[in-house]
Amino acid sequence: MRNLIYADDMDIPLIETLVSLAGKIMDSPGEYCEKMKGKKLATLFFEPSTRTRLSFEAAMLELGGSVLGFSDAAQSSATKGESVADTLRVVSFYADICAIRHPKEGSALVAAGASSIPVINAGDGGRQHPTQTLTDILTISREKGRLTNLTIGMCGDLMFGRTVHSLVKTMSLFKGVRFVFVSPKELVVPDYITAELKRAGVPFIETRNLEETIGQMDILYMTRVQRERFFNEEEYLRLKDAYILDKQKLDGAKKDLAVLHPLPRVNEISTEIDDDPRALYFKQAMYGKYIRMALILYLMEAV
Ligand code: NCD
Repeated sequence: MRNLIYADDMDIPLIETLVSLAGKIMDSPGEYCEKMKGKKLATLFFEPSTRTRLSFEAAMLELGGSVLGFSDAAQSSATKGESVADTLRVVSFYADICAIRHPKEGSALVAAGASSIPVINAGDGGRQHPTQTLTDILTISREKGRLTNLTIGMCGDLMFGRTVHSLVKTMSLFKGVRFVFVSPKELVVPDYITAELKRAGVPFIETRNLEETIGQMDILYMTRVQRERFFNEEEYLRLKDAYILDKQKLDGAKKDLAVLHPLPRVNEISTEIDDDPRALYFKQAMYGKYIRMALILYLMEAV
């Protein structure tokens, strides 16, 4: 594998390799701190980001490499009308690997087609976000001790949430996984995903009610309503607070539930639960750096 564009690029052996490598890096960071010496990572971010871009950059720096790039489309020649393909042709001369985030679905694939260095999709519009999925999987593996036999609740904007699409696709590879999709009817999981689950025989239910279903879940993956993907601000305002996870709702959950969120959080998780041992979303962001270190080493064939 030379690029990571969609969750479909990942199979169980690859996921296990990356999770295990991330664990080794966490245990002995000193052994990895020069592995990328002399190599450069380009971060090409045409859309806002905090964790994804900074964790990619921290990952490369901790591997002894260096970073270059931009964090806003307005700083790039995209404003002059340059295509993603042309940008990648040029960046291939300046860097050894790159991570790209773009508002347009499919842009990471176009980037990979034009690039002569490995390309990582750091989010393409409402479609996919496979390195967030790797982050989520490392968190589940470390915190639950398994990736099988899990009831995974996903709550919020399941229509536009690209992290949801990649995570469902990937977790459905594992045995004994079942999904509970909780969303307003306007923001249900796209049909192509439910069709794939049916084809693969992966059990799932769709519901509007979090209180009634939270007690079944081993993982609860909360998501932000994706304001930037709405055509209509009024519709966003109507749906934005559809689900708010608070103390009262958490009272109905298992004692060992893991509450995850890719972040940023807006209103959908009340800060009153931040100190609950089940609230793992900040720890999840910490894991994001280590799995990206593992991914960079893997794509650079430096494992
Ligand atoms: C997510 C994204 O960009 O899709 N954030 C992230 O990368 N951690 C989720 C979101 O923006 O809601």
